[in-house]
Amino acid sequence: MENFTVFNPTQVFFGKNVINNLGKIVQQSGRNVLLIYGKGSVKKNGIYNDIINQLNQCGAKVTEYAGIRPNPITKDVNKAALLGRQNNIDVIIAAGGGSVIDSAKVVSVCICEPLDAWDVMKAKVKPRTSVPVIAVLTIAATGTEMNPYSVLQNPATKEKIGFGCSLMYPKYSFLDPQYTFSVPADYTAYGITDLIAHSLEAYFSFGKADLSDRFAESIIKEAMEIAPFVLKEPENYAYRSRMMWAATCALNGTASYGRSASGDWGVHDIGHTLSFLYDMPHGATLSIAYPAWLKLQKERIPERIRHLGKQIFGVNSADETIQKFEDFFRSIHSPVKLSDAGIGTDKKEEIVSLMNKNKATGFNHKLTNEDHQKIVELMY
Ligand code: NZQ
Ligand code: ZN
Repeated sequence: MENFTVFNPTQVFFGKNVINNLGKIVQQSGRNVLLIYGKGSVKKNGIYNDIINQLNQCGAKVTEYAGIRPNPITKDVNKAALLGRQNNIDVIIAAGGGSVIDSAKVVSVCICEPLDAWDVMKAKVKPRTSVPVIAVLTIAATGTEMNPYSVLQNPATKEKIGFGCSLMYPKYSFLDPQYTFSVPADYTAYGITDLIAHSLEAYFSFGKADLSDRFAESIIKEAMEIAPFVLKEPENYAYRSRMMWAATCALNGTASYGRSASGDWGVHDIGHTLSFLYDMPHGATLSIAYPAWLKLQKERIPERIRHLGKQIFGVNSADETIQKFEDFFRSIHSPVKLSDAGIGTDKKEEIVSLMNKNKATGFNHKLTNEDHQKIVELMY
């Protein structure tokens, strides 16, 4: 096992109606609130009203920044940070999924100094202060609610990248599975794919950590077991709660302690290229990229892939393991090939060249330009 430090300061409120604690938590943090949300789902499903009721009860002054888009961009983060600065914000509430919460985390470190969001993402500057972030999670997928990472894209440089620092953990996260009842079937499936992918990234990071292997395997099994049920009964509390907690645990450290990194993240880098080029939902990029990556790696790490397949599916080879993952992703209608997502073979060169330019790779399993070419072929 590699050495590791455990540090996770996020206080999580999990369960039915936990939002009723929001007012008193905000009161402890200050009076001026910046409320950040996305394109409007929170208004349709009542989550916005629940938050505003709590804020009214505690006498908070609310400034809103709406319109964060899926696959969020740094321009919105800079605009929201300016708004926060102008209004002397004490605390940020992020109501949404990974896109909203990731944006809010970077807003939180850019407000005071002030800093430019892309400089933070590229680690050109080191944040020294942050405004506390309260996350109200509305979709189970990324695990951002209990980790210090943010993933943003910059159209000017043609990059979608991740960054994390300890100042960026949400201070509080509210996880009410009922808030995910309204997530449509496609995004529910992408959330399942994403949480499985996070467990796999941890699993394929270097270092021997048997308990982390078992956590990762269990999270994958949990997700695969509940997937057909949650898709059939989207308003079933038991299924939504199991999915929500699995997603949080897939990327809050549980599955990677004792390894050389939080994950390999090579497949995510490939997925970010697809999100950037075709604005594909994050999870959908991963059900395409993971099988292709595994096919590339099966000559290099056959025993590791076989072991995973044995534990999860009871199969005995790397090929069967990969086939089982593809079958599962297909069964939940998460795309497995680029053509499933409507991306034709005429885009091959475009994808390879952006992967080359941005040096898409993992922390452990390094990918060369030749590998990029092979992976893109394998995604068709
Ligand atoms: O914009 P709104 O109206 O809120 O609609 C969203 C959006 O269209 C909708 N939605 C969310 N909750 C809903 C809902 N619709 C109905 N009912 C609800 N309760 O779902 C759509 C997708 O939302 P988004 O926030 O983009 O989804 P997700 O949570 O999957 O986040 C994806 C982003 O997170 C990044 C991804 O790269 C991507 O940019 N990631 C962040 C990570 C992290 N911080 O740790 C790790 C991940 O690997 C990932 O890279
Ligand atoms: Zn992910």
